[in-house]
Amino acid sequence: MLDFALGEPYDAPAMLPAATATPFHIVLAIHVATIIMTFGVIFARPLVFALAGRHDPRSLPVLHRIEYTIDRYVMVPGVLVVILSGSYLADRGGHWSDFYVWWGIAVVALIGAALATIMIPTAKRAEAVADRDLRGASASAIGLSSEYQTLTRRLAVVSSVLGVLVLVTMLFMGLERPL
Ligand code: HEM
Repeated sequence: MLDFALGEPYDAPAMLPAATATPFHIVLAIHVATIIMTFGVIFARPLVFALAGRHDPRSLPVLHRIEYTIDRYVMVPGVLVVILSGSYLADRGGHWSDFYVWWGIAVVALIGAALATIMIPTAKRAEAVADRDLRGASASAIGLSSEYQTLTRRLAVVSSVLGVLVLVTMLFMGLERPL
């Protein structure tokens, strides 16, 4: 028979120790949250442009403006926060000799370089070319030039490569083991 049925005092289970949030945990949360906010947009991009191209090509110039504004004001600062928070974690955790830390640094440097030299200038050019093509198009037949197609193909390819690099980096960071 159970104790409480006999009127015995209830023997409460030992309390679980309260989780302590150390500065390491807080910086780790900032690191992961920044990664979601900074790189999440890369994965939404193909769907956004495919839908706009099919249903409302006239929205393409403003979408390219949104694209390079996000690159400049969300992704570039985000990359800096990822490097700073990652460096703190590497320092506190003694991970400087681990492969995944240097892989992360290389990927983040590559992303920063790709944003500055390819993504932002190409998106700006795509905005101008789409604007020009749409001004010259009649209401019934909207055609975008081959120059525009080349620019958007470049944007799609580079952002896909960056997306794959981010995913591979998440795998290495999640494994958290020196290879
Ligand atoms: C594309 C870039 C990056 C991505 C996607 C990424 C992703 C992540 C994720 C998801 C975690 C959490 C892992 C877990 O707790 O299971 C993590 C932790 C960590 N990251 Fe990054 N990271 C990136 C860049 C960096 C950089 C540049 C550095 C170093 C400067 C770095 C250093 C670290 C360290 C030291 C940890 C903590 C490992 C531990 O818990 O001991 N990361 N990262």
